Amino acid sequence: MSGIRLEQVTVSVPTHDGDRRILEETSLELTERRIALVGPNGSGKSTLARLLNGLVPATTGRVLVDGLDVAREGREVRRRVGFMFTDPAAQLVMPTAREDVALSLRRTHPDKAERLAAADRVLADFGLGGFGDRSVHGLSGGEGQLLALAGVLATEPSVLVADEPTTLLDLGNSRRIGDLLLGLPQQLVLVTHDLELAARCDRVLLVRSGRVERDGDPADVIDHYRVTA
Ligand SMILES: Nc1ncnc2c1ncn2[C@@H]1O[C@H](COP(=O)(O)OP(=O)(O)OP(=O)(O)O)[C@@H](O)[C@H]1O
Ligand SMILES: [Mg+2]
Repeated sequence: MSGIRLEQVTVSVPTHDGDRRILEETSLELTERRIALVGPNGSGKSTLARLLNGLVPATTGRVLVDGLDVAREGREVRRRVGFMFTDPAAQLVMPTAREDVALSLRRTHPDKAERLAAADRVLADFGLGGFGDRSVHGLSGGEGQLLALAGVLATEPSVLVADEPTTLLDLGNSRRIGDLLLGLPQQLVLVTHDLELAARCDRVLLVRSGRVERDGDPADVIDHYRVTA
C-alpha cells in the first residue's frame, strides 16, 4: 500500500459566521513520482499539500500515506513525509548550518560527534561545504533554501512535499532547486506557480476554488489552466 490516498476529504475552517469549507470533497490516489499542484492564489493548493503530513487536519474523510492514517499515525507519517516551506526561515531552527542539518540526523546518528561530521558531509553534497559555521540567519535566499532541502532530505523521507520552494529565489537558484527536486528518487508533491517546472512533472493537478478541477497529463492540464486563468 505505497503512495498517498485521499478518501473523501474535506477541510473546513471556523470563521466568525460559521464554518467555511476551503477544500471540497476530494478523493485522490497519488502514486506518480513527481506530482505538481498548480492553480490561482487562494485556491487550496497549500491546504491540499499540508493535509499530506497532517499540518492541516482533514475535517471529514481520511488521508493515508503508505496505508497509514495521517490523523492516527501522525508521527510515523511525518517520518515518511518531509515538508519544505516557501521561506527557508520557517524551517531553519538551529543557530548554524551544521547544527541545523545535524538536528535532522538525530535519529540516524545518535552520537554527537558522528552526527556533526555527517552534517558536514551533507552540506558538502549540497554545495554548502564552507557553510557549517555560518548563521542560518545570514544566508541568502538560495543558500537558505538549499540548506532547508538538505535538512529535510537528511531525515530520509520517502515523500517530499514542497510548497512553492522556488518562489523566493532568483532565476539561477530557482533552476538549481527545481532541478534538484525533480531529480530526487523520492516521491515529490510540488506546489508551484512555475508552470515550466510543473510541466516537467509526471502528473499535474489544477486546483481551483477548493477543488481539483483538472488532473492528469501535464501539458493538457497546464494548457487548460493557461486558457482559463
Ligand atoms: N486556517 C485558515 N483559516 C481561514 N481560512 C483559511 C485557513 N487556511 C486557508 N484558508 C483559506 O483557504 C483558501 C485556500 O488557501 P490556501 O493557502 O490553500 O491557498 P493556495 O492555493 O495555497 O494559495 P496561494 O497560491 O496564494 O499560496 C484561502 O481562501 C485561504 O484564505
Ligand atoms: Mg499556498
